[in-house]
Amino acid sequence: MPEKILLVDDEQDLLVALKRSLARHGYVVHTAATGAEGWQALAETAYDLVISDLAMEPMSGLELLRQIRAIDHILPFIIMTGAGSIETAVEAIKLGAYHYITKPFKTQELALLASRAIEHGQLHRKLESFNLQSQESDSESMVIGNNAVMQQMMAVVEKVSDSDVSILIQGETGTGKSLFAKRIHNASSRSGKPFFTIDCGALSENLLESELFGHVKGAFSGAVRAKRGLLEEAQGGTIFLDEIGELTPTTQVKLLRAIQEKEIKPVGGNIPISVDVRFLSATSRNLDEAVETGEFRKDLYYRLAVIPLRLPALRHRQEDMVLFVGHFVRKFNARYNKSVQSLTPGAMQTLMDSPWKGNIRELENVIERAVLLAEGKTISVEDLCAHPMCFPETPGEDGQGAVSLKQAVEKAEINAIRQALTAADGNRSKAAKILGIGRRTLYDKIDAYNL
Ligand SMILES: Nc1ncnc2c1ncn2[C@@H]1O[C@H](COP(=O)(O)OP(=O)(O)OP(=O)(O)O)[C@@H](O)[C@H]1O
Ligand SMILES: [Mg+2]
Repeated sequence: MPEKILLVDDEQDLLVALKRSLARHGYVVHTAATGAEGWQALAETAYDLVISDLAMEPMSGLELLRQIRAIDHILPFIIMTGAGSIETAVEAIKLGAYHYITKPFKTQELALLASRAIEHGQLHRKLESFNLQSQESDSESMVIGNNAVMQQMMAVVEKVSDSDVSILIQGETGTGKSLFAKRIHNASSRSGKPFFTIDCGALSENLLESELFGHVKGAFSGAVRAKRGLLEEAQGGTIFLDEIGELTPTTQVKLLRAIQEKEIKPVGGNIPISVDVRFLSATSRNLDEAVETGEFRKDLYYRLAVIPLRLPALRHRQEDMVLFVGHFVRKFNARYNKSVQSLTPGAMQTLMDSPWKGNIRELENVIERAVLLAEGKTISVEDLCAHPMCFPETPGEDGQGAVSLKQAVEKAEINAIRQALTAADGNRSKAAKILGIGRRTLYDKIDAYNL
C-alpha cells in the first residue's frame, strides 16, 4: 500500500509541482488549497503525512496543526515556511509538527523529509498499539527483534542447542550477554539442569579458584571445611563464566585443563573429580586483542569460543527500538501498576537520538523511571528528562555562565560520570567500563567530585 500524503498550500503552481514530485517517489498525494479544505480531506481519508504551508488565510497552517493535534497526536506534520518566519516554525514544532522546511527548497529535500516523517509516524502507531495484555506474563523475557545480526545469532543458537559446544558471547556492557547466555541454556538439552554464573572479574584469584574448583578442608586459612566447586555443583548443566577476560594467567591454565580433561582438582586436593558441564562465557573486553598481546591464552580462547557471537550495540539496533520500548513499558506497567500506553513523538525521537552507551540496560533504566514519572497514559520528553542526558550543562551565551577551562572540564567529567553511573544502574565497575577508564580512576574521581 503506498503511503498517502495530504498537501495543503494556497499557491496553485507549487501545489502541482510538489504533487508531481512526491508522486514520483511513490506516494499517493491529495491536495487542498486552503486549511479548511485540508481539514475536510482529513475527515475522509487516513493520511500518513500532512505537508502544509504556514501562511494561509483564513486558516493558517498552525491552526490546521492545532486542530489535528486535538484529535490525533501522531499524524506527522511538516510545515513549509517562507524565509523570516522561523519563530512561527519553532512554534509549530512545539505544537507537535515533525519538522519545518523553509521555502524555497529542493523537492528532493522535501521527499527525504517526508519519508522520514512517515517512518516516524508508523513507528508511533506501532507503539500506540502495544498489546498490553498479551505479553504481560513474559515481561521478563527477551526481545529478539528484526535486527539481522540478532536473527543470525538466534539461528546459530537453535542449531547448536542440542550440542555442548562452548559459546563465547562478546558485546559492550548492557547488550544482553548474561540474558543471552541464560537463553542458550534454556534452549539446550541441559535446560532441566543447573545454570550457574560466575563473575570472573569480581573475585581475587584464590577465591575464584576455590569457587570454581572447590577446596579441601585446610587448603588455606579459613578453609575450615571442604567446599564443592561450582563446576561440580553444575554437574549436567551449564556454567556461565562472565567477564572471562579478567582471568589471571594461572586460572586460565587451570580452566583450560578442566575443559580439556573434563575433570577438576579442588584447591589443596589431589583427587580429580570428573565434571560434565557446558561452558558459556562472556566478555565486554576485546578478547581478540588480549589474545594478540598474549594476555589471554590462545588455546583457552579457542576452547571457549568454538562458536563466537557478538551482540550488537543498541545504537546498531535502531529498527528494534520500538520493540524494546514496548517491552519495557509493559514490564514496568506490570511492576508498578501503571497504564502507560504510548510516548509522545518528541519522547520517541529523544530515545532514537540518544547514543545509549549503556545499551539495553540504560534504556531499561530510562523507561523504568519514565513509567514511574508518567502522569497519565503517555510518556513525555519531561518524563524522560529525569535522565541526565537531558541536562547538558552549557554556559549562557551572555557570558554570565562563562567558566574557566578547568571548570568546564570538571563539569563535563561530572556529567559523564553521572550518566555512566545511571546507565550502569549504579554499578561502578560497569560505569568505569562505559567511561573507558579504570575502576580505580573512577573511584578517585567520585571521591574528588564528592558524587
Ligand atoms: N534482548 C533483550 N530483551 C529484553 N531485555 C534485555 C535484552 N537484552 C538485555 N536486556 C536487559 O538489559 C539489561 C542488561 O542485560 P545483561 O545484564 O544481559 O547485559 P550484559 O551484556 O550481560 O551486561 P554486562 O556486560 O554489564 O554484564 C538486563 O536487565 C536485561 O534484562
Ligand atoms: Mg552480564
